[in-house]
Formats: sequence, structure tokens, C-alpha cells
Amino acid sequence: MGCNKKALGALIGSVFMAGATQVLAGSSASMMANTCAGCHGTNGQSAGPASPNLAGVSESYFNDSMKAFKEGTRPATIMDRIAKGYSDEQIETMATFFAGQPVHKAMVPHDAAKAKAGAETYDKSCAKCHDEGGSLPGDDAGILAGQWLPWLEYSMADFKAGNREMPKKMAKQVEKLSDAEIEAVLHYFASQK
Ligand code: HEC
Ligand code: HEC
Repeated sequence: MGCNKKALGALIGSVFMAGATQVLAGSSASMMANTCAGCHGTNGQSAGPASPNLAGVSESYFNDSMKAFKEGTRPATIMDRIAKGYSDEQIETMATFFAGQPVHKAMVPHDAAKAKAGAETYDKSCAKCHDEGGSLPGDDAGILAGQWLPWLEYSMADFKAGNREMPKKMAKQVEKLSDAEIEAVLHYFASQK
């Protein structure tokens, strides 16, 4: 969580510039998705800790996220700039493409003891909305299962700092938990395979 977001932004920015010309080459779903692959991996299976998997995410969550990035209502290191480069129609085409990919649960690095402790908190406080270990495609909360831990931590930090609006009912659950309990439940999500 103590990560230097500016440095991270610069780093992913340079990767983005290398891929930017591909946007002009064509607008079929898989060609557009290729532009995203530098960070979100082939077919949305992220290969790096700062970018979420997109594979299997619901169309509505994808569309809402891209719109929020475009309008600047969701904090971003890079996605605000990227989202502005696409029309609503192109975004919908990509949404269909990523929703059609199987959810990627890779069991990313995590602490097994924390994940075990987090399972109980998950059942009590998160399962209602982040169904099936956070892996339910079509869930309007996005995919949490198998996401990189640093990504989960940035998201939670943005919510807790008030930079990103947390769903009210989620906030009610999160408020009741200690930092250690939150950390454990994020390890639980990362441990899903
Ligand atoms: C240079 C790296 C990079 C590229 C290229 C990139 N992204 Fe992202 N993406 C990120 C990062 C980092 C985040 C987290 C938000 C942020 O910090 O901007 C993110 C977040 C997202 C999210 C939110 C997912 C969630 O679970 O909440 C969506 C949707 C998304 N990106 C779609 C795309 C699409 C579509 C493309 C290609 C057109 C793309 N991204 C290209 C780095 C990238
Ligand atoms: C009442 C339903 C609800 C509950 C309970 C809930 N969440 Fe969420 N959560 C959501 C929704 C909806 C989103 C998507 C918010 C958005 O669109 O920005 C979300 C998003 C998230 C994200 C960001 C995902 C991303 O891709 O950016 C994380 C991390 C998260 N929740 C963790 C938790 C944890 C941990 C718990 C349990 C302590 C929890 N949530 C409980 C509904 C809920």
C-alpha cells in the first residue's frame, strides 16, 4: 500500500505509449484487446501485479468502469487517459469480448495463513455480493478471485481514502473490520484458484 503511485503511473505510461499506435490499426474486438494486453495480459489474464484481470468480467461492470474512468469519477493512474481514446460503441464491443473469456484464477502470491484467516471474514462480510469466492462472472462487483494482491490493496486503499466511491452497503461491512481483517480477506481472494 505504501507504493509510489507516480512512479507506477510513469512506468505503465511508457508501456502504453509503445502500444498506442496499435489503436489506429483496426477496431475489431480482439485487435482492440491487443492494445490492453501489455498490462492486462493476453485475453485479459493479467501478467503484472498492478493491473487487474479482465477475463470474465461482466459487460455491465466493464462498461461502468470505462465510463467512470472516462468521466474521471473513478481514480486512475492510467485508465483515465486510455478510456478517453474509445467511443462508447468500441467500449461495448470490448466488454462483450472480455465477458466471453473464462475467469482467470491463477492463485497469485499470497500468505496462506492470512488467506485462511480471511475466509471467515469473507463468509460473514463479503460473500453476499462477491459470490463464489469473488469469482462469479456476471457479478456487478467485478472479479476479485485470483486478482493480484497489490491490485486488491490499491483498490481497497482508494475506497478507504474516499478517492473512489465505495458502495454504501459494502462500506457498512468494511467499517466493522480491522486493517488486519481486511488484509486477510484480500489474501483470501488472491488465494482462489
Ligand atoms: C499501461 C497499462 C494499461 C493498459 C495498456 C490498459 N490498462 Fe486497464 N488498467 C490498468 C491499471 C493500472 C488499472 C487500475 C486503474 C488505474 O490505476 O488506472 C486498470 C484498470 C482497468 C479496468 C478496471 C477493472 C476492475 O476490475 O475494476 C478496466 C475495465 C480496464 N482497465 C480496461 C482496459 C482496456 C479495455 C484496455 C485496452 C483498451 C486497458 N485497460 C489498457 C492498466 C492498463
Ligand atoms: C453490498 C455488496 C457488497 C459487499 C457486502 C462487499 N462488496 Fe466489495 N464491491 C461491491 C461492488 C458493487 C463493487 C464495485 C464498485 C464499483 O463499481 O466501483 C465492489 C468492489 C470491490 C473491490 C474493488 C474491485 C475492483 O475490481 O476494483 C474490492 C477490493 C472489494 N469490493 C472488496 C470487498 C471486501 C473485502 C468485502 C468484505 C469485507 C466487500 N467488498 C463487501 C459490493 C460489495
